[in-house]
Amino acid sequence: MVAGRRAALVPTMGSLHAGHLALVRRARREADYVVVSVFVNPLQFGPKEDYGRYPRTLARDRQMLADDGVDLLFSPEADEMYVRPLGETTRVEVPGLSEVFCGASRPGHFAGVTTVVSMLFHVLQPQVAVFGQKDYQQLLIIRRMVEDLRMPVRVLLEPTVREPDGLAMSSRNAYLTPAERERAPLLYRTLCDTRARLESGERDFDALESKAVRRLGERGFSPEYFAIRRAGDLGVPAVADTDLVVLAAARLGQARLLDNVLTVESR
Ligand code: PAJ
Repeated sequence: MVAGRRAALVPTMGSLHAGHLALVRRARREADYVVVSVFVNPLQFGPKEDYGRYPRTLARDRQMLADDGVDLLFSPEADEMYVRPLGETTRVEVPGLSEVFCGASRPGHFAGVTTVVSMLFHVLQPQVAVFGQKDYQQLLIIRRMVEDLRMPVRVLLEPTVREPDGLAMSSRNAYLTPAERERAPLLYRTLCDTRARLESGERDFDALESKAVRRLGERGFSPEYFAIRRAGDLGVPAVADTDLVVLAAARLGQARLLDNVLTVESR
């Protein structure tokens, strides 16, 4: 991007919080030129999803990034990114991994993500890109895309930043009512509880998953999935596998909460 300097990119959809800023700090440690993109990408939203009401706070985002010493803010308009109607635009798609979990309930979502991220890589040409563990499936899909298409970008994972009560920070937490916000940390607590049982040797994965789904259901969550998988490729683990991720998505009122934890071996 700039001759002789290492550039790191942090792709975001804006409405920035401390989780995004942790990615920015990591980018700063890895490169001497930091670019943050802020783009609410229409291609990754389903027709009935929250594209229209997704929080947009560009003036505040710009100030936060300036305070953090970011070198470049890239915030294009949708028609600057997409030259043709979305249904006709060229797509980059990772099969398999994009169709499970969040991909099952949000058809086309990950193709929207991989398409826009590959466009950002082409336009901005970073050597490094930083993504959050919060969206673990997204990170694995982007790593697969980079590997398959031989993109010269190093993809780094940064741990999830949480509120003091454990709730993963997310722009979509703004959709929670005060009562829901109080209940929301149960998702993370349930993930941690499941991880503790795995780490102490429990190996009946199905029973652990069902128990967690039941617990969340009883407390007013509508779990979309709660799954114990291999951390490397989201495959169903064998009893001997210890490199695991516990992934969950659950609706709570208007919000869809997403979170995951890795077992010790995967961290
Ligand atoms: P967005 O949801 O804005 O997230 C941007 C980046 O911040 C992602 O890598 C996400 O994993 C990370 N992130 C979000 N919350 C975090 C938290 N609490 N702790 C640490 N990292 C966190 O993910 C997207 O945007 C989009 O799909 C994008 C990759 C920008 C493509 O449009």
